[in-house]
Amino acid sequence: MTNDAARADGALTIEPPVGLLAELTHRCPLQCLYCSNPLELDRASAELPTEMWLDIFRQAAELGILQLHLSGGEPTARKDLERLVAGASGAGLYTNLITAGVSLSSERVHALAAAGLDHVQVSLQDTTEDGSAAVSKYRDGLGRKLAAAAAVREAGLALTVNAPVHRLNLDRLPDMIDLAVSLGADRLEVAHVQYHGWALHNRAALMPTREQVERSTEVVSAARNRLRGVLAIDFVVPDYYAVRPKPCMGGWGRRFMVVTPAGKILPCHAAQSIPGLDFDSVRDRSLHDAWFRGSTFQAFRGTAWMKTPCRSCPQREIDFGGCRCQAFALTQDAANADPVCALSAHHAHLAELLARTPDARNVPKAYRSPRPSSAGETFRSPVMKTSNEGPRAEVTDET
Ligand code: SF4
Ligand code: FES
Repeated sequence: MTNDAARADGALTIEPPVGLLAELTHRCPLQCLYCSNPLELDRASAELPTEMWLDIFRQAAELGILQLHLSGGEPTARKDLERLVAGASGAGLYTNLITAGVSLSSERVHALAAAGLDHVQVSLQDTTEDGSAAVSKYRDGLGRKLAAAAAVREAGLALTVNAPVHRLNLDRLPDMIDLAVSLGADRLEVAHVQYHGWALHNRAALMPTREQVERSTEVVSAARNRLRGVLAIDFVVPDYYAVRPKPCMGGWGRRFMVVTPAGKILPCHAAQSIPGLDFDSVRDRSLHDAWFRGSTFQAFRGTAWMKTPCRSCPQREIDFGGCRCQAFALTQDAANADPVCALSAHHAHLAELLARTPDARNVPKAYRSPRPSSAGETFRSPVMKTSNEGPRAEVTDET
């Protein structure tokens, strides 16, 4: 069914999505404490083959999607990445590679550029090797990342540095900004960790203090003034310290689709944390059909599903009640207002959580697995103490 036909038969008045996040693989050499991948990773043998991804990209372009974000895990773990980029670019999609950078050689950057890649986003765990390893359990990764970022600029591709920040690294934010400038990045994303997946698991270790949050806001504000015309800085403030939520994903089923390594079609990367949703698969449903008619996309689309206080709130078509996954994680009901909202009956719970935030040095941490278990079973990392714990420093990532 075409977009026009979908509207003509009254399927929905919703517009097509603007972006597709293609999680090509859950394999990754890093084990970040805040990884946004689900606790249960898709194993390599379940990953979609090349031809299926190429078909998905054609479907995405026909659906009206403009931007394709190639993510993971670590997308460069896919040996067919150049073919995938060429197919997406040929379909007319703007292609953005989201990578940790540690396994991205200069040769591969140039091959990807030749295949039509438009933009690269390199994640930064910290500005020191020790700090990076404390977050990712990957030794000597920073030098590799810097080399990859330099290769991106040399190949003439647009570069964004993604710096997820949290309690362990936030005090080094000024150094991160300087590093992004020295790399010649076009944009720096300073994104406070969102508490889904592994980050939710490690929330006690990652949650910044209020003083850190206030200082980071001042640092970003001053840097934006100082670096106008040199470096654009995006700043994602930490939810838990806010009084109104963000319109997560621009609103459920309004702007984005996610396809998992095994082919599930999701409204957001964390949607599988909400029980009871019936996810379509690219193996038996088109992107178009899933978007316009799939029950998962309609579950929290618009405002009809809302409860009090969202139902009658003047903000309801601005923030769409915040994040559904966070509402479920904190209240066990995905249809509740995001507790970040001060109008939520559960908001006081967040303040209690923050008040109980312990000294991060003494909090056990759980690192994700570098890959799903070879036995094909879902993997859960043991909670472990590490010698890298301490008030050292910084950064989150989102590969
Ligand atoms: Fe947003 Fe709901 Fe809070 Fe209103 S009550 S501001 S719609 S989360
Ligand atoms: Fe799922 Fe916010 S992450 S709706």
